Amino acid sequence: MNRRTFIKGAIALTAAAWANPMIVIDAAENFKWWQKKPVYQIYPKSFLDTDGNGIGDLRGVIDKLDYIKSLGAGAIWLTPIYPSPMVDNGYDISDYTAINPLFGTLDDFDELVAEAKARDIKIVMDLVFNHSSDQHPWFLESKSSRDNPKADWYIWRDEKTNWRSIFGGSAWQWCEERGQYYLHTFATQQPDLNWENSDVRRALYDAANFWLDRGVGGFRIDAIVYIKKPAQFVDGTPDADGTCSVHNMTAALPGILDFLHEFKREVCDGRDIFTVGEANSVKPEDLPQWVGSHGVFDMLFEFSHVNVMFPHGEVWHRAELYKLSDFKQALTDSQRATRDSWYPIYFENHDKPRSVNNFFPHGSDKTLAAKAMAIILLTLRGTPFIYQGEELGFANVAFDSIDDYDDVSSRGQYDMARADGFSDKQALRFVHRFSRDNARTPMQWNTSPNAGFTSGKPWLPVHEDFKTCNAAVEDKNADSVLNFYRRLVSFRNASDVLIGGDYAELCHDSEELYVFTRTLGDKKICTAVNFTTHDVKLPDKIFDGAKKLFGNYPDEKNYLRATEAVIYGN
Ligand code: NOJ
Repeated sequence: MNRRTFIKGAIALTAAAWANPMIVIDAAENFKWWQKKPVYQIYPKSFLDTDGNGIGDLRGVIDKLDYIKSLGAGAIWLTPIYPSPMVDNGYDISDYTAINPLFGTLDDFDELVAEAKARDIKIVMDLVFNHSSDQHPWFLESKSSRDNPKADWYIWRDEKTNWRSIFGGSAWQWCEERGQYYLHTFATQQPDLNWENSDVRRALYDAANFWLDRGVGGFRIDAIVYIKKPAQFVDGTPDADGTCSVHNMTAALPGILDFLHEFKREVCDGRDIFTVGEANSVKPEDLPQWVGSHGVFDMLFEFSHVNVMFPHGEVWHRAELYKLSDFKQALTDSQRATRDSWYPIYFENHDKPRSVNNFFPHGSDKTLAAKAMAIILLTLRGTPFIYQGEELGFANVAFDSIDDYDDVSSRGQYDMARADGFSDKQALRFVHRFSRDNARTPMQWNTSPNAGFTSGKPWLPVHEDFKTCNAAVEDKNADSVLNFYRRLVSFRNASDVLIGGDYAELCHDSEELYVFTRTLGDKKICTAVNFTTHDVKLPDKIFDGAKKLFGNYPDEKNYLRATEAVIYGN
């Protein structure tokens, strides 16, 4: 039975149970392995360094497999570990079928896959197929002349347009050797591949199959909305600075799904894996074309709920205070649009600020906030993605100077803010708020120097709170964020209603509470979260027989206290 039949079967069962509550349902039986347990995301560079060079490695991941198992995860998504000049920390790949020596060897990788399998955990790789590194042999050949065999493997033009790259600056780079410009959606060192060329597509599919043949459990597919380019390269409507984001000109263009259906046929069909595409700009209403029975992926990371701060595009200094109702609407729209398919639930990853700072007002208690987000993450419908450190309640950092930031995008955003007239202090404030380095500081394992991450000098400073916020301390504290996660994941993994139940939102107009229910037959769960720093009255009746099952306060009131989150069940 394939995935679609599984899901359809579960939905039919749910509908039948509504009509006749006496029907006994075991929804979890009908779902795939990747729907039943969370995925744990690792940023290997910051996870655990075992050779003292200040950079995490694959042996560090192997060392911590039992920790990940203790969280109840069924898969680990590794951000890119391929050879790379590391301009964008691995998202600039110079060889698609090898391991970056900074992280280890292919033997280490094979050992990781085997050791993870022994713990019932699959390894999921990151495919970066929109662009390669400018040091990839394909690009070196392509740029060498206009008539070499790979001359057409990248996007070359005689004229440039006013497009701005996502990291800031022109999206076109002049190449002396060819006397032409090449397109780079991201950093200058990340030239875009030409998907119109079938040899390019074949080479990429072969790379994906190389990893599947080594036993990986699936792929997260990077920046996939940009692979289709327009038929004509023309200027876009300019912002005040005269440039137009490349995103507005190339994201999710018609024809992209033809490429992706081919990818699915050539790489995924017939394999027991999952795929999750990264797709900024795919709107919840378009999700059915991308996922589910007519789609190309199993899940899609769309950005509607994390982009609520960016109504004017993702330029950090144009961010606004977000409205809770917009955030809830985005989640509700995505939940509805994936009712017949599946959704990857996430609030953090290596590109986003830490949620305790991102979604809660200044002055909120961070431990309560981390547990509140855990409650939402683990009770929405879909596969929860937990990002390293999220399970420990990590918070943002604030480095003193832009020079202390490693992230190419933080530097680009800082430059854009300065060019728009903001002072150094103001520009740095935007960086503190949104920098991707907030999520990339080293993991905090214990109270020893550098939080036990490395015996050398960490590539990025460790957060100053590591003496109190770390895995060893939290492991011993029954009330910690870590142990809260462990209990909640084990509850979610065993709950038919949380895996298969329908979603409905309550109190939609509230700018203070997020309340939703999950229902399967006569089983019901309700999640209620107070996003403010004051008491808020609950709706009079959650549902008949509702009892508190989980909460981030030990006792119960008939209202929600500051940052309080509760799961009710019957
Ligand atoms: C999205 C990745 O998550 C991000 O880290 C990277 O910089 C860009 N894509 C470019 O590959």
